[in-house]
Amino acid sequence: MLIAHLTDTHLGIDSGALGGRLDPAAALRRALARVRALEPAPAVLLLTGDLAEAGRAADYTLLAELLKQELPAHAGQAPRVLCIIGNHDHRGHARQTLGALMPIAPEAPPPLACVRAEVGGLQFIGLDTVLPGHPHGALDAPQLDWLARQLRDCAGQPVALFMHHPPLTSGIEAMDRCGLRRGRAELARLVAAHGGVQFIACGHLHRPIAGVLGGAPVLVAPSTSHQLELDLRPGAPLALRLEPPMLGLYRWTAQDGVSCHFGHVQTFEGPYPI
Ligand SMILES: [Fe+2]
Repeated sequence: MLIAHLTDTHLGIDSGALGGRLDPAAALRRALARVRALEPAPAVLLLTGDLAEAGRAADYTLLAELLKQELPAHAGQAPRVLCIIGNHDHRGHARQTLGALMPIAPEAPPPLACVRAEVGGLQFIGLDTVLPGHPHGALDAPQLDWLARQLRDCAGQPVALFMHHPPLTSGIEAMDRCGLRRGRAELARLVAAHGGVQFIACGHLHRPIAGVLGGAPVLVAPSTSHQLELDLRPGAPLALRLEPPMLGLYRWTAQDGVSCHFGHVQTFEGPYPI
């Protein structure tokens, strides 16, 4: 089974941030076209938050529309789309507008938008790390207790976790300050105790980054729109960059486990421009 991973679509962002060169809707359309063209077709498409820049309901409507246009169900091989929110999102607007694209677990502790779905023998569990009004995130007792119950239910079964704020320290200081501030050690213990978590897919950092937590790979995909400077100097300021967007593509089978690819959304035509 293939799982495609796009993140941080930031629909509705003010394009003036990079000299008018951002067009997140066009960028998402290109990324979805790339997903549609994949062979074999992915069974799942994960979108790990910051779906909308300012949480406007209209931007979630646009997201749903773009998904419908670019991954039409009648094509027969459209992936199951699973969304989770990030710090730029509005929990209520996303829940109201996205519907089946964000299948909230019936027993998720309100108001959290935690997601559950099973596809192809893999149990997908999406965690809501958002603290409204703050750029950083957390896993507190409501999420952790709920996750512990989900993982107990999935004992002996393979699990894929996805969440916006990555449970790792990237070394990009300004982003680590607004990272997952609480719950990382507890999450590591839960993941290690379960023993069948295949990967933890995340966003937020606008760069391709890999780490490990509780024995499971942590996979951070870049944004479909704009990236952050790769700058590990202490105290370095955050800077946006127009690096080529990428998608994550994760191959999983019960026999082989997981292998993780990152590919550019677009490639150069003709000679490589050295
Ligand atoms: Fe973001």
